[in-house]
Amino acid sequence: MAAQPSTPDPEALLRIALEAAEAAVRIIVDERPAVLGTESKSTPTDLVTEMDRRSEAAIREVIHSHRPGDVIVGEEGGATGGDPGGAPDDTPDGMDTPDEMTVTWWVDPIDGTTNYVYDHPGYAVSIAAGAGGTVLAGVVADPTHGRTYRATSGGGAWCDDEPLRLGAPRPLDHALVATGFSYDAATRRSQAELLSRVIAEVRDVRRVGSAALDLCAVASGRVDAYFEAGLSIWDYAAGALVATEAGAVVSSIDGGDVRPGSVLCAHPELAEDLIRTLARATEAT
Ligand code: IPD
Ligand code: CA
Ligand code: CA
Repeated sequence: MAAQPSTPDPEALLRIALEAAEAAVRIIVDERPAVLGTESKSTPTDLVTEMDRRSEAAIREVIHSHRPGDVIVGEEGGATGGDPGGAPDDTPDGMDTPDEMTVTWWVDPIDGTTNYVYDHPGYAVSIAAGAGGTVLAGVVADPTHGRTYRATSGGGAWCDDEPLRLGAPRPLDHALVATGFSYDAATRRSQAELLSRVIAEVRDVRRVGSAALDLCAVASGRVDAYFEAGLSIWDYAAGALVATEAGAVVSSIDGGDVRPGSVLCAHPELAEDLIRTLARATEAT
């Protein structure tokens, strides 16, 4: 009888993600060229640099050296690998269907490329691994502050040696809320219109420029909530696990399951209020 595929060990996946993130950070920090070549992607303001590509190549090499059969979905290199039956998956959220035990990795080699280009704080390396419809391990490395966030499904969330804790619960009108914008100008205008309503209902708003760090900021109590439309799975897979494991609610902006294009993350005592407020603001715009 053929052996049944076993569920991958989250801790083993985490160790690989940490090794890959360390290799990527070494490249983007230590080997940053004096003059950084940039190109545009989806719009003239959506940048990619040679360092995004080199970072992703280094991450892929580490993952492949340990787990040559896995699927890797990287922002710059697309979906590769896996056995023909197992992937890449065609589900809308990019997750494996639950009966598949093929491990998929979601890689954002530099989340916050605009910040990286400007040498502005607020970029990260984001790596997550999952199977069977669940993200099992995630790492977000923040080189500017020398912090590495990590989590495994059911194993808690950490920043270096410290377990992560959400901030104290706050009402929405005292909440610091992070968000982000699309690279598409028309989409950004409608996001700004929505925000112009929400900003009046909260303490203040932050736009850091890295979705992965925004999610880790909720997990660490540096902001109370975060929402963004238009993200891809590699932007949020690792950070969402870190935030969930720290005790935050992670959902879509309308309160359903988190999905590409719609991510909300908040202290549990704040989530419903924020979801209602965003729904009202959406109706009004
Ligand atoms: C971007 C960042 C940003 C978010 C954008 C993302 P990138 O990722 O996460 O904070 O607002 O939606 O695309 O392009 O720097 O990898
Ligand atoms: Ca990104
Ligand atoms: Ca990126």
